[in-house]
Amino acid sequence: MMQRSKIAGIGYYVPKNVYTNTDLSRFMETSDEWIQERTGIKERRFADRLEETTTTMGVEAAKIAIERAGITAQDVDFIVFATLSPDYYFPGCGVLLQREMKMREIGALDIRNQCSGFIYALSVADQFIKTGMYKNILVVGSEKHSFAMDFETRSRNVSVIFGDGAGAVVLQPTQKEGQGILSTHLHSDGADAESLAMFYPGSNANKWLKDKPDYPDQELGGLFLTREQLEGGAALPYMDGPAVFKKAVVKFPEVIKEALAANGKESTDIDLLVPHQANLRISQYVQQLLGLPDSKVFNNIQKYGNTTAASVPIALCEAWEEGKIKEGDLICLAAFGSGFTWASALIKW
Ligand code: UT7
Repeated sequence: MMQRSKIAGIGYYVPKNVYTNTDLSRFMETSDEWIQERTGIKERRFADRLEETTTTMGVEAAKIAIERAGITAQDVDFIVFATLSPDYYFPGCGVLLQREMKMREIGALDIRNQCSGFIYALSVADQFIKTGMYKNILVVGSEKHSFAMDFETRSRNVSVIFGDGAGAVVLQPTQKEGQGILSTHLHSDGADAESLAMFYPGSNANKWLKDKPDYPDQELGGLFLTREQLEGGAALPYMDGPAVFKKAVVKFPEVIKEALAANGKESTDIDLLVPHQANLRISQYVQQLLGLPDSKVFNNIQKYGNTTAASVPIALCEAWEEGKIKEGDLICLAAFGSGFTWASALIKW
């Protein structure tokens, strides 16, 4: 039998600062009623502006995952770090975590797949375990959205949705027959790449020049991030919410069914579905389509908002801590987001 990998340890970290919907209405025209009705979100956490970063939150989650796996940071032999909100444009958060946790000079890979980043990261790590290349892989999803969001009314469709936090798992080879990650399924369609994006800083100067024909002519440089771009809001996240919603409700069920079919399973075989926490309405729609009872779908977006690459591991960890995941359970992870990219994983716990 091919070597499978299992989640040997899991942890999460959320910052202590709680912002309710009513708190946000101090900064922009919005209301608790609007946000709850459209998204299910009641509150979210925002990192300390100066003391916390995507890496520091990732480290906190990683410490717990490593301890629960019964290993030390020195035993980790590869890092996969998923985020869209890195501490630096480059280098990525993987090396910053390696430094912070005083790990050996192991490989560190950053994944940029936004909401499906964690499942992509898990899939990459799974392949390294299957080939026998590594034995203890740390997979992290962490986001500090609050630093790049605009808390004015013009950005309210984005800034009421996202929150900060981190989740991590340690992946190890399993010796148990039938246990572990059964399969992962990764997809993308770049046709709507600009429907959910942050354009600058970036190398696509044309996008900016097209809108600003009078932009000063110059031979080299100067377009990566300009004062005009900053002032015009070009360095803020952009989202066509309805377009994302429409695609998500198609691709979530599709990729879940793909995972089930690949393993000869039915939706009734799922013990717990842990969807990326994009919008409670999306999760409810998917649940209904698959005919799953409330007890078989885990949602915590109400407390944390959408934490992008961190949302799946945070939700998985909370579900596990609440005793909703037991050995032998069939767990399905699924995500959809910017790119668009979408993914699923089926795990025998
Ligand atoms: O993980 C993937 C990441 N993203 C997603 O999954 C997002 C998927 N999309 C969604 O969740 C929804 O599209 C949103 C929750 C973002 C928006 O809900 P919607 O029902 O699609 O609203 P909309 O964007 O069509 O806007 C409807 C109205 C607009 O007002 P007008 O033009 O009808 O007067 C917006 O300006 O709601 C207004 N609006 C708000 N009002 C109060 C937008 N954001 C807010 C807000 N508070 N925060």
